[in-house]
Amino acid sequence: MKIFILLFYVIVTLVYSKYLDNKSCSECHENIYNEFQSSMHSKNYFTDELHRKVANKANSKKYECAVCHMPMANNLKDLVSGKARPDKNNKTQTDAISCYFCHTIAYVKKAHKHNINIKARQAENYKPTLYGRLTNPDENDKHTSSSNPIYAKVVCTGCHSHKLNDNNTTIFTAMAKDQNSLECIKCHMPKIEGGAEKMNKRSRRYHASHKFLGIHDKEFRKKGVDINATIQNNKLKIILINKMPHPLIIQPARAKFLKIIIKERGKTIWQNYKNKPSEDKQAYFSYSFKKDGKKIVVPATATESKAYNLNAKELKTLIYNIPHLEKGDIIKISLYVQLAKSDCAKAIGLKDKKLLTPSLIKTITIKKD
Ligand code: HEC
Ligand code: HEC
Ligand code: HEC
Ligand code: HEC
Ligand code: HEC
Repeated sequence: MKIFILLFYVIVTLVYSKYLDNKSCSECHENIYNEFQSSMHSKNYFTDELHRKVANKANSKKYECAVCHMPMANNLKDLVSGKARPDKNNKTQTDAISCYFCHTIAYVKKAHKHNINIKARQAENYKPTLYGRLTNPDENDKHTSSSNPIYAKVVCTGCHSHKLNDNNTTIFTAMAKDQNSLECIKCHMPKIEGGAEKMNKRSRRYHASHKFLGIHDKEFRKKGVDINATIQNNKLKIILINKMPHPLIIQPARAKFLKIIIKERGKTIWQNYKNKPSEDKQAYFSYSFKKDGKKIVVPATATESKAYNLNAKELKTLIYNIPHLEKGDIIKISLYVQLAKSDCAKAIGLKDKKLLTPSLIKTITIKKD
């Protein structure tokens, strides 16, 4: 009997020693763990309603999205083929884009539909080969990292580069073929105060933020686009500059658009759209999909895709004919994001109304003088 218990224990240890879960890192990397928990990378099929509902609509049997959204799943193949469904009691699934996953990517293989993350073989003694600071990697007693080929700077490209569906239709393109991740890390993982680990024996003052701030953060999202405007006679000229090295629209569920209001003595005298922001075609940025010539919303089966976008570092000039302005008239130009477009929210029966309500990205006001 004892030998069986021992054998059982050995098997369990062998199976589970392969994956170090997020929580296990928090013992020493407490701050980084808390930052990560607040990030979109910690969101998963169960906690991200938008993702779950689009996934179920795209395919109610196969969960192909797992390769990027649940990459550490110990039954990844079965999820993708439809033999298994997501299980909220499986940590390798609920850990989402986990610490261990990112920190054991060895290299990224470029591929047509989407790139593929190749995992590092486990290092000696079952310690993971982790990597850290890209500029100043260490050898330390806990992990070895300096020989990890991830220093080829490809860590974000396995999931964030591009995605096509089975009909070769583009679902998103965020990065150019040879674009590396260093830039991404500079903006999305800035250095913030505090050491990288609790004991901080090396007295480090900074570590790379793992909040991965993006469009969901009120302050951070102000930094992506510059808005400039001038009035010449009866024309309003707006210049939008995308400062990001990726398009304004990456995720096809979203819309980003301008709302322009002109006020004279407190009363609105002009607006760039009446009811829906999409009426103003030149300032409504979004993806649209068709299947065999007919408009569809969930892109999984689309045969055509089109994006009206502000591309990486692109400058776009918009011209509007406006009424004659008087001194003191006020023009307010605001860029908004709708995290889930109205038609998408409707198609998937989204409950969380916050995702539908436009959120302000940035606003400027000018006064006619
Ligand atoms: C027992 C404590 C402990 C645990 C648990 C732990 N680490 Fe570490 N880790 C450290 C120490 C100590 C350092 C060195 C910190 C320094 O150099 O300031 C470190 C450094 C790192 C680095 C930087 C490596 C380098 O060479 O630059 C990464 C990345 C890292 N850990 C990831 C993880 C991940 C992911 C987990 C969970 C799977 C984890 N660690 C669990 C103690 C730990
Ligand atoms: C090639 C990797 C990859 C695959 C495969 C993939 N995604 Fe994603 N997905 C991403 C990335 C990267 C983001 C973050 C992009 C962003 O926020 O703009 C994302 C974000 C999303 C979001 C937005 C989530 C939110 O709450 O804001 C939805 C919805 C989504 N994906 C749905 C899906 C569905 C459904 C599938 C499977 C049919 C899928 N994805 C497969 C990489 C992928
Ligand atoms: C999306 C990929 C990704 C995930 C998920 C991720 N990391 Fe990192 N981590 C990185 C990158 C990239 C760096 C290097 C940043 C740099 O050099 O500026 C890094 C750096 C680190 C460092 C060294 C920090 C420093 O500034 O010295 C530690 C420690 C670390 N990560 C631990 C963790 C832990 C713990 C988790 C989970 C709670 C985690 N990471 C999740 C990508 C990731
Ligand atoms: C100059 C700073 C900067 C750099 C460099 C940068 N980003 Fe961004 N990124 C932003 C800002 C600001 C936002 C939020 C504003 C927005 O999306 O309109 C954002 C948004 C995002 C989003 C969410 C978009 C959405 O609507 O869901 C993703 C995903 C993203 N970035 C990934 C990347 C990747 C991958 C790279 C590397 C190719 C990268 N970023 C490089 C500044 C940057
Ligand atoms: C294993 C795949 C994977 C890798 C590797 C990865 N990401 Fe992501 N990332 C995702 C997915 C999936 C999402 C969307 C999660 C969701 O919304 O449910 C996302 C979301 C984001 C967002 C959006 C935040 C927001 O507010 O919408 C940013 C920014 C981001 N990632 C940056 C990075 C950076 C920088 C790297 C490289 C250091 C990286 N990611 C590596 C899969 C990945």
